[in-house]
Amino acid sequence: MPIPIISEGLFEGFDSVPYLPTVLKTVPALLLVYLLKRYFGGAVNKSERLMRSKVVMITGGTSGVGASVARELAQRGAQVILLTQHPPSDPFLAEYIEDLRATTNNELVYAEQVDLSSLHSIRLFATKWVDNAPPRRLDMIILCAATMTPPRSKPEVTKDGLEASWGINYLANFHLLSILSPALRAQPPDRDVRVIFGTCSSYMGGNIDQKVKKQKYASTNVYGTSKLALMVFAQAFQKHLEAYKRPDSQPNNTRVVLADPGWSRTPGMRRWLTAGSLWGLFFYLIMWPFWWLVLKSPDQGAQSFLLAAMEADLGRGAGGRMIKECRDIAYVRPEIKDDNAAKDLWALSEKQIETLEKEGAIKRTQEKKEKEKREKTEKATTDGGLQSENRADQSRKAGSRRSRKAA
Ligand SMILES: NC(=O)c1ccc[n+]([C@@H]2O[C@H](COP(=O)([O-])OP(=O)(O)OC[C@H]3O[C@@H](n4cnc5c(N)ncnc54)[C@H](OP(=O)(O)O)[C@@H]3O)[C@@H](O)[C@H]2O)c1
Repeated sequence: MPIPIISEGLFEGFDSVPYLPTVLKTVPALLLVYLLKRYFGGAVNKSERLMRSKVVMITGGTSGVGASVARELAQRGAQVILLTQHPPSDPFLAEYIEDLRATTNNELVYAEQVDLSSLHSIRLFATKWVDNAPPRRLDMIILCAATMTPPRSKPEVTKDGLEASWGINYLANFHLLSILSPALRAQPPDRDVRVIFGTCSSYMGGNIDQKVKKQKYASTNVYGTSKLALMVFAQAFQKHLEAYKRPDSQPNNTRVVLADPGWSRTPGMRRWLTAGSLWGLFFYLIMWPFWWLVLKSPDQGAQSFLLAAMEADLGRGAGGRMIKECRDIAYVRPEIKDDNAAKDLWALSEKQIETLEKEGAIKRTQEKKEKEKREKTEKATTDGGLQSENRADQSRKAGSRRSRKAA
């Protein structure tokens, strides 16, 4: 087909070839779109590893990048435990798990309820996991869940009353890993154990100094601050694991890896871009071709997480490396490797958790007492009602006997 067209062009002039000028204009434009799409799509994970028999715990595995990571790991045979805020009885969650099992041909996909906006919920799950004897197998924890409050929206708070980015993106992970730490340290020494923290380039604009010194929430860039805190904690957690003396005298075998997916078209990003409003959604839809071009798909965003989970090299040597675009990158903020910053942050986090858990326990006890009181009152009212009903019934019966006798 191209040969007759080219020969016609050569012998009879290119003007004689139908649509040639249009084609010549369109092809470079399409080529440009293709190249831009490939560029913004980012690097692809080339690490090939079967994950059969590995037990992977993942937060945020129900949406966006986390859902793609969970699907790929399930496809590779891993046992996937989705930590989600929804109860397992939720019909949408049940359907999601069924679908994941069917499409990955892997029955080992489960969900556990862990609401990261509640320190109590995290404690309930993590203590239950750690209390298991003998210790359960746990090869990987992937921390993908996060929240991003849209610009100019009302600040969101967790169930414990914390600013949501700080509470869910940072403190929840601190709390979860602090409790699960013995479960990680109990894994046999020959096992390649990893903790993967999801991060974001917005950490560069975060300010934990303000947070640690004034013990207040940073007024701007709360998301970046939460991610910076998470990264400081990630390094400190690696050191905490290394400081542990194993009973078998073997070296620590858990490695911390940080993964940045890059900007991706996920529900979280969409909520942020639309500022959580209908007008925002309208503009988002109008600009859809632009977002399609410059933002990664969730599958493309998952690539750095998958490399962090599968690359054999990351299971050896020093932990605490950061992966973006499927390669090692350096940290921009010096606090991340600063032991003093980590110490201050660790102390602040423990204090916050202790205070909030105490307040939460008092609140729960009060609620329980009030509930019991309400139930007692309701019971008394019902019993009282029943008694008067019985009396009325008896007098009716008595009345009918008298009238019968009279008759
Ligand atoms: N998207 C991007 O452009 C981008 C860029 C840089 C870094 N990142 C990072 O990549 C990771 C994934 O981002 P994403 O955009 O894919 O996220 P996403 O679509 O917003 O999904 C967030 C996930 O977090 C879960 N989650 C939120 N609140 C929770 C809670 N209280 N308890 C338990 N789970 C909760 C959600 O669960 P439900 O489904 O139940 O709501 C959902 O699965 C995050 O760490 C994010 O910071 C993303």
